[in-house]
Amino acid sequence: MAVTSRTQVGIVGAGPAGLLLSHLLSLHGIESVVIENRSRAYCEARQRAGLLEAGAVELLRSVGLGKRLDAEGMEHGGIYLQFEGERHHLDFRSLTGGRWVTIYAQTEIVKDVIAARLAAGAPIEFSASDVAVSQLTSDRPVLSYLDEAGTAHEVSCDVIAGCDGFHGICRPLVPGLSVYERIYPYAWLGILADAAPATDELIYSRHSDGFALYSMRSPEVSRLYLQVGPDEPLDQWPDERVWAELQKRFGIDGWSVGEGTITDKSVTAMRSFVAGPMRHGRLFLAGDAAHIVPPTGAKGLNLAFSDVVVLASALRAALLARSWELADAYSDTCLERVWRATHFSWWMTSMLHIAPGQDPFESQLQLAQLRYVTSSPAAALSLAENYSGYKPLRYEF
Ligand code: APR
Ligand code: PHB
Repeated sequence: MAVTSRTQVGIVGAGPAGLLLSHLLSLHGIESVVIENRSRAYCEARQRAGLLEAGAVELLRSVGLGKRLDAEGMEHGGIYLQFEGERHHLDFRSLTGGRWVTIYAQTEIVKDVIAARLAAGAPIEFSASDVAVSQLTSDRPVLSYLDEAGTAHEVSCDVIAGCDGFHGICRPLVPGLSVYERIYPYAWLGILADAAPATDELIYSRHSDGFALYSMRSPEVSRLYLQVGPDEPLDQWPDERVWAELQKRFGIDGWSVGEGTITDKSVTAMRSFVAGPMRHGRLFLAGDAAHIVPPTGAKGLNLAFSDVVVLASALRAALLARSWELADAYSDTCLERVWRATHFSWWMTSMLHIAPGQDPFESQLQLAQLRYVTSSPAAALSLAENYSGYKPLRYEF
């Protein structure tokens, strides 16, 4: 016999989307449980991107999650675009009238929200198995799972939020889903290194050997990426080869990448993916469960946050005021922002990467576009506006 319990919102997945949703709901007095199939340590260590739009930073501050972010986050007022051996600065602040972004790793956000939820006594069940959701078109959907000790649980909910990422169980339960997908013929090899960044802001570099990105985590830790083949075996990339390739792809006279001990190395596939509607009955999808963008535009985390902001407001209206209008509009509201970010991420990716066997016509188009965004204030403003957050997030209590 399963242990039965009752909550208002059953949340599948303790990534940024599920955790922040649980936190936002609690501010409205709405109860939730979060069920996660990985361990807490795994969730807190998983390396992902780390760039927040100003709207996401302001959101985290306004909901009491800004303390460490303010102390350790690094505010950047622009980026560098490098191509044909030259580096160009795009100054977002002057282009957009003051917009900026913040570097703060997703791992740190996940740690901050988990700590806040657990301190508030919220239930987060890590290391669950056999997670399933059912009765989605009734007004009491059920979230079931086995806890770490193997005990079966059934949670009766008002609503279920599928925040279980790209490989989760929730998206396949939405009937009649439309799926739009593009798989890119390359991947990113990412490293974390104990090395002071040799740049004050991120460098996006297009090189004839492939794209490279210079990012950072702190004044002592660099995060760097190299475009590699889609199924690149990591053992082909000993540390010396990684550094040599980075020095080449970022090379400009009198400057070099700061090298140090590599503490993490992994390969990430590149895909664009959008699935809709993001709702079926009482099941709502949020974050990577519904959409994936390639990391070039740094939009994945920001989109996950905007989904749960929209969802928290919709659930507040539905569960506290019995008004389902916002819930009915949820999928369309989210997908509008998702498609803008999908276009921007695809555009940045296409402009900066070298496809296998790329024809010279494509290369000339990329270079023409790069020259345009680094010389025309109108084109630069369009990039800056999208990168720093077109339609800043708004969260009202
Ligand atoms: N049951 C319970 N939990 C699950 C299940 C399942 N069957 N399947 C997956 N999960 C968990 C994963 O282990 C993960 O912790 O759901 C969580 C989903 O988290 P993320 O993949 O981080 O997705 P999301 O919260 O939407 O955050 C999006 O992550 O991939 C990045 O770039 C993306 O920054 C963006 C962010
Ligand atoms: C990162 O810091 O990991 C990062 C930053 C910007 C991107 C992608 C990744 O576009």
